[in-house]
Amino acid sequence: MAKWVYIEDLKKFIGEEVEIRGWLYNKRSSGKVKFLILRDGSGFVQCVMVKGTVSDELFASFKELTLESSIVLVGVVREEKRAPGGVEIDVKDYKIIQKAVDYPIPKVREENIPDVGVLLPKRHLWLRSKKQWALMRIRDTIEKGIEDFFHERKFVRIDSPILTPSACEGTTTLFKTDYFGEPAYLSQSGQLYVEAACMAHGKVYCFGPTFRAEKSKTRRHLMEFWMVEPEIAFYELDDIMSLSEEFVEYLVKRVLEEREEELHILGRDLKKLEKIKRPFARITYDEAVKILKDKGMEFEWGDDFGGDEETAISEAFETPVIVHRYPAKIKPFYMKRDPENPDVVLNMDMLAPEGYGEIIGGSQREDDYDTLLKRFEEENLPIEDYKWYLDLRKYGSVPHSGFGLGIERTIVWISGIRHVRESIPFPRLLEKIYP
Ligand code: 4AD
Ligand code: MG
Repeated sequence: MAKWVYIEDLKKFIGEEVEIRGWLYNKRSSGKVKFLILRDGSGFVQCVMVKGTVSDELFASFKELTLESSIVLVGVVREEKRAPGGVEIDVKDYKIIQKAVDYPIPKVREENIPDVGVLLPKRHLWLRSKKQWALMRIRDTIEKGIEDFFHERKFVRIDSPILTPSACEGTTTLFKTDYFGEPAYLSQSGQLYVEAACMAHGKVYCFGPTFRAEKSKTRRHLMEFWMVEPEIAFYELDDIMSLSEEFVEYLVKRVLEEREEELHILGRDLKKLEKIKRPFARITYDEAVKILKDKGMEFEWGDDFGGDEETAISEAFETPVIVHRYPAKIKPFYMKRDPENPDVVLNMDMLAPEGYGEIIGGSQREDDYDTLLKRFEEENLPIEDYKWYLDLRKYGSVPHSGFGLGIERTIVWISGIRHVRESIPFPRLLEKIYP
């Protein structure tokens, strides 16, 4: 009996007979030689079947083989330097587990997206294609990298709630639900809760799904996305700028180390990623506005940057760029005003290079009770809902800061793809929630 092995481990079995359990990804034929490309989740391998080395019956059955049929195949592993994984399999036998009839995604599926309108409703099958496979593995590495980065630095993970009684990032993008007769909202950010937790643990982070009912149909917007949010007591704006640089450099390095094959599948230019080294560029909002004006773009001081502006600013740098000190009036209530200039806040956004736009938003938080209370009043926020949050400024308040990194936008940038819909297993897009 041949041993069941995974494709990613085949190199350890050169010359041995093994069993592969997987699916038929593709097939080709050139007369007396037939090629079956199998995938088993861990990788892809070409299996070669030569007439005369297997039973005539098996050889003839090749033409009946259909894409995505499930197969158990037995063969001998052969070193093949030109093959992507360095090996091929010489087929001895195979058995179909279930024959897939008329697989609805065409054979050229990995050669770019034929039509997203067709593929999105087939996401449950599209996930099997090579590029999507590569993307989910890069996502996995980023998620593991996030955990490792913070634990190596002695942060404590704090899980923030998904059901919340109030808004963090503005009331216009809340998904409302019913909580035993009371309104509740899906979390827009775990920030307010990690602010509480950092007063208990010093260095904390939360990492989970985040919801924004944004009526935006852009390549950067999802209704449900995953955000990691570190929050640190006694950190000021400069401290989180440094932490965010270290963090992003770490994630890029991790993907380069662990997912080179996947980046190749996606056609990513690795040289651009190898340049992601600290220090990153840091500019003020005012300097960013100047870059836009120098490029001849029309922009008023006080406006927020949209996708086009972010692209234009980031194109001026090879590393990510941190833009700090935005006008206070376009930013949320919790951001601390700059004592040197109360028109701006002590915040930072990190824009990815190559026009990928914002991947991080963060700030130093308002830590003074009276100032924060005034802010709530100015913004007409229901103080009752935020009393617990104000408590944090009453009992041992300290300067503290944090940021949020959206992992889908980070994946899109690192992978060099165009749209966030491919960076998450089952994207929730404007008015699209199937499958
Ligand atoms: O800038 P945002 O809204 O910041 C916050 O939520 C803060 N409370 C975070 C904090 O300080 N703890 O969002 C942070 C990041 C963005 O930079 C972006 O990467 C991502 O979350 N993001 C989205 N990603 C996909 N789709 C959306 N609709 C997103 N909105 C934000
Ligand atoms: Mg933001």
